[in-house]
Amino acid sequence: MTARRELYLQEMGLGPVWRLKPVAAEPPLPADIQSMEGAELEAVVANCTACGLHKTRTQTVFGVGDTQADWLFVGEAPGAEEDAQGEPFVGQAGKLLDNMLKSIGLKRGDNVYIANVLKCRPPDNRSPLPEEVTKCMPYLKRQIELIQPKLIVGLGKFAVQTLLGQGDVTIASLRGKVHAYQGIPLIVTYHPAYLLRTLQDKAKAWEDLCLARETMQGLISGESAII
Ligand code: URA
Repeated sequence: MTARRELYLQEMGLGPVWRLKPVAAEPPLPADIQSMEGAELEAVVANCTACGLHKTRTQTVFGVGDTQADWLFVGEAPGAEEDAQGEPFVGQAGKLLDNMLKSIGLKRGDNVYIANVLKCRPPDNRSPLPEEVTKCMPYLKRQIELIQPKLIVGLGKFAVQTLLGQGDVTIASLRGKVHAYQGIPLIVTYHPAYLLRTLQDKAKAWEDLCLARETMQGLISGESAII
């Protein structure tokens, strides 16, 4: 609007004129993520300011474990303890995840990698926003390309919906089948934090872990897993 037109409006008693505040554009993600190796990718994530979560995080939580692992477990986002320690699943839910791993003969860091969809903690543990997922997902995508796991276990509805690109699906409706993320077999199960609140679903999570173990055995012996 020109100054003259604004003056006109004022004279006619139609002021003041409200203007939208310019919104600072979020810096874009580096275009070359797709060619980054692990250490460089981790450094880029540590300095990421692509969404508003960088303002409230203590530190980023990149992922932990064996970068050549056959097994990849994917959760939602860091919580308070993960934000403080810089490692995924170190709180109560993490203790349960470690026990879930142990129940099928696995151990954090030993042929196992653990990561989240989001690398920063959403404040007050709120659910991730769609734009945060859009900004952060290229990092997980590249991590998966680098790790090349044989099998992914999606922990909870949010991670599974994101990996499968399907909104509004329940774990209950997806359990018991082998899905795929970019051609990699994907098994879904309940989030450990949900299991801490919903003890009656622990038996189902155990069935899911058994399916994951059987599927991995099949993959190692050369059987096709995706049905
Ligand atoms: N919940 C998650 O989804 N990830 C973590 O790292 C911790 C809790």
